Amino acid sequence: PEKPREEWTGQVGFIIAAIGSAVGLGNIWRFPGVAYENGGGAFLIPYLVALLTAGIPILFLDYAIGHRFRGSAPTAFRRLRTWLETLGWFQVMICFVIAVYYAAVIAWSLSFFVFSFDLGWGDDPAAFFTGDYLQVSEPGISLDFVPGVLIPLAIVWVLTIVVLAGGVAKGVQRANMVFLPLLVIAFLVLVVRSLFLQGATDGLNALFTPNWEALGDANVWIAAYSQIFFSLSIAFGIMITYASYRKRRANLTSPGLVVAFANSSFEILAGIGVFSTLGFLAHQEGVQIGELENISGPTLTFITFPAIISEMPGGVFFGALFFGSLAMAGFTSLLSITQVISAGFQEKFGWSPRQAALRVGLVTAIVSVLLFSTADGLNALDTADQWVNNIGVVASAVLTCVLVLWVLRRGRELQYHLNAVSTFRVGAWWQVFLAVLAPIVLGYMLISRIVTLITDGYGEYPSGYTDLVGWGTVVVLVVGAIVLTVLRWRRSPDTFTPWPP
Ligand code: PHE
Ligand code: NA
Repeated sequence: PEKPREEWTGQVGFIIAAIGSAVGLGNIWRFPGVAYENGGGAFLIPYLVALLTAGIPILFLDYAIGHRFRGSAPTAFRRLRTWLETLGWFQVMICFVIAVYYAAVIAWSLSFFVFSFDLGWGDDPAAFFTGDYLQVSEPGISLDFVPGVLIPLAIVWVLTIVVLAGGVAKGVQRANMVFLPLLVIAFLVLVVRSLFLQGATDGLNALFTPNWEALGDANVWIAAYSQIFFSLSIAFGIMITYASYRKRRANLTSPGLVVAFANSSFEILAGIGVFSTLGFLAHQEGVQIGELENISGPTLTFITFPAIISEMPGGVFFGALFFGSLAMAGFTSLLSITQVISAGFQEKFGWSPRQAALRVGLVTAIVSVLLFSTADGLNALDTADQWVNNIGVVASAVLTCVLVLWVLRRGRELQYHLNAVSTFRVGAWWQVFLAVLAPIVLGYMLISRIVTLITDGYGEYPSGYTDLVGWGTVVVLVVGAIVLTVLRWRRSPDTFTPWPP
């Protein structure tokens, strides 16, 4: 007889884990810079529109698929239609690629958490980060391992495997119950402290002063959609998997709204914290905010922030809170991505959570260490991230909407499912967003990005390198998805009746 499916202990456990997944590095290092560069205060309009018209509808779609078909992505999609299993494995592969580099950033955060106690990055944080710490080389395959990264990275993977081995309730949920509240407290203290820095108001003005003209620029709208997408962790299996561990009769939409708004609140909060702090830097250097460099992504985090922390009264405390927050936010997101992979293998090959955690975790950890604790780590991370997020995830979203809504015409069934179990009911608008708006907007994003990457390449990287690491990643996603589909199921997932009928 089949073992009953693992479950969250209740609604709160699910919500906390889902928020833990959504709130990640993207909230802290991506949102503030994106908002600033795309119209400041005015960016909130496209951002809200993207949240309401694509973010929340696709979040609900993920929930509906995972919950109705009670499986991680490959199982759930297969139960929708046999050949759709491949889309599920494509999403698992996306999670695999993201996991291998996401873990590296958490490892860097752990190192910098330690460095912040004695301002270990010295007087030149830029040289320290890429030189002393990462020992970055020219783009290209490298076998020069960097022990300073290898050790924290190994720690991240051991912790991940231990948590996943505990299963959904005793592992993933419990870890989130510890780290999410800690993160919220640490981050709130950080943001409040940043508000009292000299120059903070200038930073906030720079971030929130609206540039209304930006609203006429299509790229600003695209930036909003892609931020929402990345930030909510939708359309690559995570929310399908998490929703599949809810009880049969479980409210889906209202918790979804809580998760979406909690994530956005955390983003705005991070915007406030980051720009207050940048305001302090501009004040110290006697320049305008607009003249500052490295205000987003890894360079904001590991170069600009260390520089600021060194100049700040009480910097040690601030640094520890900042890098501690990053590590916790990243870790709870990493758990969600790796759970997707683990669940896929548990279901297809009949492994227990413990077996899957060990096997999947070890393979992923080894790939992660081989690729990202070498001197090429930063280049590979930047490149893989660009391709997997802008091509892999967006393609996955377009495919899901088009195949489920148009080809299989299952929109009504899923809408019915959501409404049968939830208190907040979705109307026909939900299907319209998914069937019409999402494919148009996301399809346009996908095609224009593919064209730009082909014609202009990416950053300063030579085309041989982006072919290998960027397009190579896409090949890995597709080939991996096909191979995993072809392998045999240990126990067929096909005798399954959805509930409610
Ligand atoms: N949503 C997370 C963030 O905003 C990012 C993430 C990526 C989470 C991949 C899980 C998986 O940072
Ligand atoms: Na997020």
